[in-house]
Amino acid sequence: MKTGNDIVIIGGGLMGLSISIELQLRGANVTLLSRNFQEAAAHAAAGMLAPQAEGIQDPEFLKLALGSRALYQDWANKLEAIAGLDPGYWPCGILAPVYQRPESTVGSESPETPAYWCDRNTLDQRQPDLGPEVVGAWWFPQDAQVDNRRGLARTLKVAAQKLGVNLREGVEVQRLETQSLEAQTLKPQNSQGQPFEPENSAIHPAMIIKVHTNQGTVTGAHYILATGAWSAQILPTIPVYPVKGQMLSVRVPPSPEPLPLKQVLFGSEAYIVPRRDGLIVIGATVEPHSFDPGLTPAGLQSLLSKAIRLYPALQDFPIQDFWWGFRPTTPDQFPILGGSPFKNLTLAVGHHRNGILLAPMTAQLIADWVLEQKADPLLRQFSWHRFSMG
Ligand code: GLY
Repeated sequence: MKTGNDIVIIGGGLMGLSISIELQLRGANVTLLSRNFQEAAAHAAAGMLAPQAEGIQDPEFLKLALGSRALYQDWANKLEAIAGLDPGYWPCGILAPVYQRPESTVGSESPETPAYWCDRNTLDQRQPDLGPEVVGAWWFPQDAQVDNRRGLARTLKVAAQKLGVNLREGVEVQRLETQSLEAQTLKPQNSQGQPFEPENSAIHPAMIIKVHTNQGTVTGAHYILATGAWSAQILPTIPVYPVKGQMLSVRVPPSPEPLPLKQVLFGSEAYIVPRRDGLIVIGATVEPHSFDPGLTPAGLQSLLSKAIRLYPALQDFPIQDFWWGFRPTTPDQFPILGGSPFKNLTLAVGHHRNGILLAPMTAQLIADWVLEQKADPLLRQFSWHRFSMG
């Protein structure tokens, strides 16, 4: 998978931008094609970096998620130094209040995944004014947040520009033009001359030779698909579908000083994410297979009533904004990373609820794979092969 220097990334969302920056920093020459920077899933999330609060159980996925959370502080510092903008990383911890006492309240002292149970009395010290039905909460001090819309998305775009990534906006990819290859000649062989399948590697019957767009064709030595919820429209063999999320924000009125929320509240029904300047993001509906644009009264009513149940003071805070977006989801809800059915196409899609969290790790793994042919064992777990077995 020698690539030369010309890499074409399809998709200008958080993943495409993060990967473009990592590749460009390692000396590649990257062109990024984006239909519309505003429609990216990065705008649809609240920016929680929450492997623990999300309750991730799968050991390999947890490894990926915790690894990415651990990279965040340095990654944010690096982006800030390049772009001269603050991505809004805030290691504020996440409180996960519950309405029913869990069977076990034994936490964890592990330095990587500390978790502490707070009964209602302890909780009231940490976070006053939660709803009367809350009986206690888990406290995850290592979970964090980033201001994805106002901070990270803008910082990534400016960093990519400053590093010389060729950002082409308004470019809609219509199709990939492929050419078949002699599959036999591509089959890797072991030292005895027998065919074998290296980790996360495909036997590629074809390669991409160009990308057809609304602005002509684009060619590169290697291509990376990072098209989020729209991925199956470009590569139908990749099972990625949209899960719509509606969101809104309110603003703390000037009088409650200091700010009333000091950490993320990750409720079982809704989450409330306070920013350091008094904005509070509330999310999100979960609407599988919907590409319907816009907001619905039912969606907003449900979000508001769940958020007010969790933190009643919200009901008097002025509403700031409403928006929606589409999470890119796969049948097992894990991402698809690494090789593809095509020799010179790499996949970085399907991050579902965890795209913001997984961006730094994804950028690193994909750059290792594309530039150094280094297949981290995690790539095997998240290979497209798991969906191609019949
Ligand atoms: N990461 C939270 C969500 O997708 O709603």
